[in-house]
Amino acid sequence: MSYANSRIPMSAQQAVHERLTDLVTRHVNEPFRKPINEYNRVAFEASLAGWDRAAPLILDAGCGVGHSTIQLARAFPDHWVIGVDQSQDRLSRRKPYPEALLPTNMVFVRADLVDYWRLVSASGLRLARHYILYPNPWPKIGHLARRWHGHPVFPFIPKLGGVLECRSNWSVYIAEFAQALEQVLGREVSWGAFEAPSPLTPFERKYRDSGQTLYRLTAELE
Ligand SMILES: C[S@@+](CC[C@H](N)C(=O)[O-])C[C@H]1O[C@@H](n2cnc3c(N)ncnc32)[C@H](O)[C@@H]1O
Repeated sequence: MSYANSRIPMSAQQAVHERLTDLVTRHVNEPFRKPINEYNRVAFEASLAGWDRAAPLILDAGCGVGHSTIQLARAFPDHWVIGVDQSQDRLSRRKPYPEALLPTNMVFVRADLVDYWRLVSASGLRLARHYILYPNPWPKIGHLARRWHGHPVFPFIPKLGGVLECRSNWSVYIAEFAQALEQVLGREVSWGAFEAPSPLTPFERKYRDSGQTLYRLTAELE
């Protein structure tokens, strides 16, 4: 596939999944007991090692190659920005700046968000901003539980506070994420299409350059 020819996720699912509400209800009501892996505890500690414990926190969850983490660290120089991804390969890819020019108010850690989010929640720390940019869409109907809003970890996400932003090129993903968030928060969450004149991530750039519509939701959490 050539660069600017990426496709919107192909799915037999054209609207919010009919099982979403029941799934979120179950996840809100049943404790999520999966044990936390030691390597994620170590990664969580490592992500805070360079933090002065005063700067507001920004989490770039699923940061991929980390270009968004760098842009966020530049845009918010008085914040501590944490880029988390499970792929060391992606995290290690060459950055668009020489090492010496990279912002110093950021860190990359390899961790599984399923544990990392729960560790942040348990620590009592709260985020100022939280980005979930172009998460894997898992577009098959049977894959609802793999999407973040269908996963048992979902109820932990709104507990982390701050301004939460999720972006996708699949409108159904954002519609579902918004509905799940509304269910947990008990209030409306706004979402819609947006333009990205300066893309934050490589996926955003690729989708934009392929002429696709981009969608995002933002929610201010307590
Ligand atoms: C489609 S890519 C988007 C990357 C980046 N946000 C962007 O827009 O360019 C999704 C990313 O989420 C990461 N990811 C998926 N599941 C994860 C998990 N459980 N924990 C941490 N990262 C995860 C993948 O490794 C991948 O880099």
